[in-house]
Amino acid sequence: MILNRRSITVFILLVTAALAGSAQDQDTVQKVTRGAEMSLFAEDNENNCLVCHGRLVYTITDTVSGLSRKELMAEHNFISRDAFYKSVHWSFSCLDCHSEGFKSFPHAIETRFETGWGCIDCHGYDPTYAQYKFEEIDAEYQKSIHYTATDGAFSCWQCHDAHYYNPLARETGSGRENILKSNEMCLHCHGNPDIMGLVTEKELTMVLPRHEWLPDPDRHLAAVRCIDCHTRMNDSILVAHEVMTADSAVNDCADCHSQNSILMGTLYKYASKESRDQQGFVNGVIFSNDSYVIGANRSKFISLTGMIIIGLVLVFAGVHTVFRVIIKPVKRYYES
Ligand code: HEC
Ligand code: HEC
Ligand code: HEC
Ligand code: HEC
Ligand code: HEC
Ligand code: HEC
Ligand code: HEC
Repeated sequence: MILNRRSITVFILLVTAALAGSAQDQDTVQKVTRGAEMSLFAEDNENNCLVCHGRLVYTITDTVSGLSRKELMAEHNFISRDAFYKSVHWSFSCLDCHSEGFKSFPHAIETRFETGWGCIDCHGYDPTYAQYKFEEIDAEYQKSIHYTATDGAFSCWQCHDAHYYNPLARETGSGRENILKSNEMCLHCHGNPDIMGLVTEKELTMVLPRHEWLPDPDRHLAAVRCIDCHTRMNDSILVAHEVMTADSAVNDCADCHSQNSILMGTLYKYASKESRDQQGFVNGVIFSNDSYVIGANRSKFISLTGMIIIGLVLVFAGVHTVFRVIIKPVKRYYES
């Protein structure tokens, strides 16, 4: 596609620059840029929406009397500019996803029933995003407990924050932090009865007590992702999306604590594709996370040293036996 968003951006920028010359309006909203690209909508977003949603205290005005007054923005309706402009959808207008009706305040009732876009509406069957395999993720999601048990109340947005989303599994180097962020997606709901109440009538059961079969559960839950135990393994996508009922979850220590640890096909899938057999360690990528998974990590150097030590011990034991069995009796014979 030649006329994509980027080329249009560049074209508009050139035309504006030509028309305006070097005269710059000092009062405009600070420009939002990423590399050579610039958001076309930062100013509209600011004036239409963030003027209220980007603040914890916003102002309402009565257009008839001209009176105005300050009010608090509820935390769940606050949108952080910083995080929004760092997300994958940074170049968007708020109105790309929300209906024009939101331009008036109070927002009319029908705006609350807007049928929003799903990820698949924009990303499905688009070669630009082929590496993510959105179609396959969607198919898996539709088999998950979240889709099948919630009667349409659930969508991809329940886990992927509409305004702040960035794909984590492809970032290497900040393993622990990404495990935490990934698990927050689940605990946001599974640790919060109010949020849970939006999608089900069922009472929330506390998650942590159900994981006390693990030694040091806090430490385990900080070192692996919920999805590593709760989704069906899938080799063809990077992040499996079929969350199963709890009775099918990984519950065998050896699934992780062994040389062919499932973690190499889940948590460490991306890293293990990038670098095989790092640092002379079997499953060396696990160290990129400051983890030592007993049984799953093995150092070739340590193994070799181990073998040499065992070898020396055997030799020593052999020699010792020879002395004890053959030479000592001779000695005793002389002593007695
Ligand atoms: C004058 C301040 C103000 C402006 C401007 C404003 N909003 Fe709101 N918006 C609010 C407040 C306050 C709420 C929470 C109360 C409510 O739901 O009416 C809200 C609620 C919302 C909700 C949640 C609706 C729901 O069903 O829970 C959305 C979505 C939203 N606004 C989007 C927008 C968008 C998009 C824009 C820009 C086009 C915008 N708003 C502009 C004040 C504002
Ligand atoms: C990529 C699409 C997309 C863009 C861009 C977007 N939104 Fe949203 N927004 C959504 C979706 C989807 C929801 C509903 C989330 C849910 O159901 O959990 C939502 C919900 C909201 C809510 C309700 C509170 C919440 O987080 O659930 C507010 C307020 C809001 N958006 C404001 C904005 C503002 C302001 C902007 C621009 C800075 C914006 N949105 C840009 C998709 C988007
Ligand atoms: C309204 C259309 C729309 C919706 C809905 C939407 N996206 Fe996007 N998405 C885009 C566009 C356009 C870009 C490219 C933005 C840019 O680079 O300026 C993008 C970028 C991305 C990227 C970065 C791709 C790359 O390789 O650079 C990811 C990942 C992504 N979206 C995931 C999602 C997920 C997950 C959802 C649903 C939770 C979703 N998107 C919903 C249109 C959409
Ligand atoms: C139950 C929570 C949940 C739901 C529902 C969900 N996802 Fe995800 N998704 C995750 C987690 C956790 C990750 C891993 C963290 C990451 O990479 O962002 C992820 C990762 C992704 C990625 C990045 C994969 C990659 O190759 O880098 C994409 C794309 C994605 N999801 C799309 C979707 C789409 C599309 C839907 C709806 C059809 C969806 N997700 C529904 C939890 C969920
Ligand atoms: C928006 C809320 C929400 C989010 C986010 C969420 N879940 Fe759930 N989850 C539910 C609901 C609701 C059910 C119950 C479905 C039912 O049985 O009625 C459920 C069920 C489950 C079950 C099955 C429990 C059982 O009784 O067998 C597992 C396992 C699970 N979720 C794991 C996860 C994981 C892992 C994540 C993050 C990747 C996640 N959930 C994110 C709401 C959520
Ligand atoms: C090491 C594997 C493992 C990890 C990691 C893990 N789980 Fe579990 N989870 C299980 C097993 C096994 C069960 C079933 C326990 C039982 O039958 O009592 C379970 C039970 C559950 C249940 C069912 C609780 C109920 O309603 O009975 C939910 C929900 C759940 N886990 C969510 C999560 C979330 C959220 C995370 C991440 C913070 C997570 N799990 C991390 C293995 C795991
Ligand atoms: C989903 C994979 C997974 C499963 C299943 C699992 N572990 Fe672990 N385990 C890990 C990881 C990853 C670490 C590394 C934690 C760290 O470095 O902080 C670990 C660390 C440990 C440690 C050392 C942590 C400490 O507190 O010193 C012990 C002991 C352990 N696991 C025992 C077990 C036992 C016993 C089971 C079964 C009941 C089990 N693990 C199941 C992934 C797993």
